[in-house]
Amino acid sequence: MKVMTVFGTRPEAIKMCPLVLEMKKHPEIQSVVCLTGQHKEMLRQVMEAFGITENYNLNIMRPRQTISTILSDILVGMDNILEKEKPDIVLVHGDTSTSFAAALSAFNHHITVGHVEAGLRTYNKYSPFPEEMNRCLTARIADYHFAPTNNNRNNLLREGIDGEKIFVTGNTVIDSFHTTVKNNYVFSEKVLTGLVDRKRKIVLITAHRRENWGQPLQNICDAILDLARRYSDMDFVYPVHLNPVVRETVFGTLGEQDNIHLLDPLDVLDMHNLMSRSFLVLTDSGGLQEEAPAFGVPVLVLRTETERPEAVEAGTVKVVGVDKDTIINEARLLIESADAYHQMAHAVNPYGDGKASERIVNCILERDYSSFAD
Ligand code: UD1
Ligand code: UDP
Repeated sequence: MKVMTVFGTRPEAIKMCPLVLEMKKHPEIQSVVCLTGQHKEMLRQVMEAFGITENYNLNIMRPRQTISTILSDILVGMDNILEKEKPDIVLVHGDTSTSFAAALSAFNHHITVGHVEAGLRTYNKYSPFPEEMNRCLTARIADYHFAPTNNNRNNLLREGIDGEKIFVTGNTVIDSFHTTVKNNYVFSEKVLTGLVDRKRKIVLITAHRRENWGQPLQNICDAILDLARRYSDMDFVYPVHLNPVVRETVFGTLGEQDNIHLLDPLDVLDMHNLMSRSFLVLTDSGGLQEEAPAFGVPVLVLRTETERPEAVEAGTVKVVGVDKDTIINEARLLIESADAYHQMAHAVNPYGDGKASERIVNCILERDYSSFAD
């Protein structure tokens, strides 16, 4: 059986590499890895951390790329590869433009599509943008849906997707911890070694989403600056996405404050181990909302809504939006009230038991693909 995994951005790689490693345990599977290269350096960091080498790379990334260039470059680029490889199934992940374009390419070639991390929804088509629509469109195309949680499965059932094609597996991000999280970890980024040794409270920050560009990201940065000035005995660590649009705002606002540490994107080993040692996470990322709860680290989500309600229900994640004063007040509450902090800081893991990849691979092995081929 030939299984092609297609991915192109940092979070997809973090969540698909455990699956590729799991497939390597099965000699009956020929695994072909195709990168779109929607990300470049940030993708390479993950491939190196997991020790995986790709078979193909479309290398589509350009500075300040648009959604249209991503989609069109992938659709054109995938044609030859799919013609040549003719995989039995193509696996795509989540919600990026890479995922949707790769699913559509496979469909155009009458190849079965499996959607990993299926069924997440906000039901607001512009938030997150363009991810909510990418997820919905990929679900229309997919033949098999690997849903992390029952809640995700129910979303798909409500949309009329056949329950026999939906498999609740957990999220492969939890599987990734087998590779990344270590006791006595030695950071490769030297600044982090110094900060962790200093044993001051660390607030870990990431923010880069398209719908936050402009005033929302400015509000987020203004709030962080205010917090850093108030709490000079704490360290604020912000690994900044390579997108120039994001870097202009972040470096322009936060570049001069001593206890704010603006770093280049961390490799995933440093990132997960830093997260596990952090006091608080402020983020607009999807992945961090799944990861930090497993470490018992509270998360304030810098977005107006989330497609990951499970950790909100469990009490470790709170959606606070993008208003400067609200962000400051919510963070201050956790910093100053031990009760409020301890109510949020308990390890929960609504996203799985670290065996999602195993379940997905077993499921793929049990299926018959002949009925899908033309
Ligand atoms: C993309 C995805 C988003 C996902 C996010 C994860 C789309 C439309 N967006 O958003 O769903 O949540 O990845 O991080 O699919 N850049 C580099 N080097 C890199 C990566 C990016 O220089 O390794 C710069 C480039 O200038 C690039 C820009 O960042 O043009 C934006 O990258 P892009 O993939 O379009 O957007 P993201 O915000 O990363
Ligand atoms: N991440 C990383 N280095 C960083 C920032 C994030 O390895 O400097 C990891 C993070 O732990 C998570 C994933 O990248 O696994 C999240 O990616 P991102 O925020 O880019 O995308 P999203 O989750 O919003 O789709």
